[in-house]
Amino acid sequence: MDKLVIEGGKPLSGSIVIQGAKNAALPILAASLLAEGTTTIDHVPKLLDIEVMLNILRELGCRAEHNGNTVVIDTDTAHTSRVPESLMGQMRSSIFLMGPLLARFGEAQVYQPGGCAIGERKIDLHLQGLEALGAEIEEAGNRIICRAGKLFGADIHLAFPSVGATENIMMAAVLAEGRTTISNAAREPEIQDLQRFLNAMGAKIIGAGTDTITIEGVQSLTPCRYKVIPDRIVAGTIMVAAAATRGQVTLQNTNPAHLTSLIHVLRRAGVQIAVDGDIIKVGSAARAKSVERIVTAPYPAFPTDLQSQVMVLLTLADGVSIMKETIFESRLKHVDELSRMGADIRVDMNAAIIRGVPRLYGATVEATDLRAGAALVIAGLAAQGKTVVEQIHHIDRGYDRIDSMLTRLGARITRQSPVPNNLTN
Ligand code: EPZ
Repeated sequence: MDKLVIEGGKPLSGSIVIQGAKNAALPILAASLLAEGTTTIDHVPKLLDIEVMLNILRELGCRAEHNGNTVVIDTDTAHTSRVPESLMGQMRSSIFLMGPLLARFGEAQVYQPGGCAIGERKIDLHLQGLEALGAEIEEAGNRIICRAGKLFGADIHLAFPSVGATENIMMAAVLAEGRTTISNAAREPEIQDLQRFLNAMGAKIIGAGTDTITIEGVQSLTPCRYKVIPDRIVAGTIMVAAAATRGQVTLQNTNPAHLTSLIHVLRRAGVQIAVDGDIIKVGSAARAKSVERIVTAPYPAFPTDLQSQVMVLLTLADGVSIMKETIFESRLKHVDELSRMGADIRVDMNAAIIRGVPRLYGATVEATDLRAGAALVIAGLAAQGKTVVEQIHHIDRGYDRIDSMLTRLGARITRQSPVPNNLTN
């Protein structure tokens, strides 16, 4: 498995263009199934998760090409509603296919996507929403079969503002007969992007970005061309890396309005942030200040996907900070790895008490999930000495060549691939 080798201690500097949002592109690619014909999506980054989604669409009979950052999908030849178990297991987001498959074919066969390093990741809210629209759900072992002769609009209340459940229900409801309302809906920017994409195909949806989304069912949708929003989590990751290495970095192609909570936290930590249109400038020449209390919560609160990255900055801040993870039940696995680099962090239930230390020391550490892996890269950039980050396939799921990104900002980072056995003897 590839590794990243990082020589720490060098401030990042320069400018970088931020990639398209993985968590917007994935549901939008699934939603392309809702229209017969050729849909083109721009600003889609080259990521493992995107490749898995395209492979699933190909397995369903679509033709899909990813050239540069543009994906072209022809769904005319889609002929099955059964997602292969092997592909389901590679990526949880394949659960997004239930809604579009049900809407297009009246049936969807998927598999329990399973938990992962950050938590159980149930899908009960997805299934309850689809049942409310008239689907019959049959669970046989880990296989889930949804059937619906026709879908009918319904009033759905989510017990928790689940991002994926909100998206799945939206995609199933657009072709249902009648009106659907989703209350206590997730409000993330990626939900708003999905609404814009579906409406560009002829859907009638309002309210994304608020806690109530209303969908008027239509007879059919037509393919379109669409550009995905910038990735706020990749942008946030680079911003934290700039701050943690006391560098000066300019980010282009961002949407600062999607990063309000992070900008607020970084400014409280003493980081200079300047915003101008889609450009964010980050600078930090001094040691960060501790931030008394950061709690992850659904958008627009502080995002769980930036929790591990900001924790790295706080391990080097003056004073004691507290971070509380409320979205996923086990998303603090990076604490052990950071402690091996000299961080002083104590975990109490779902809270981390972080006491700043003068410096971190390079070590060999292991990425346990996508964002924890990104956090370990930031720690390696800020640490004294050499850090080796292993299991970096997790990072490649969400960052388009993170080593190239950071090299452009002056980082001393290289990707090491294992030498094939037949070449070692
Ligand atoms: C999306 O996951 C993102 N993934 C995650 O980003 C992100 O962390 C998460 O939203 C929260 O913002 C994509 O968009 C592809 P949820 P999702 O449904 O939809 C519980 C990354 O690093 N829940 O909002 O799976 C669930 O267990 C990834 O890019 C149920 O109980 O998140 C979790 O504790 C990681 N039942 C909480 O809700 C359900 O039916 C949030 O889950 C669904 C969810």
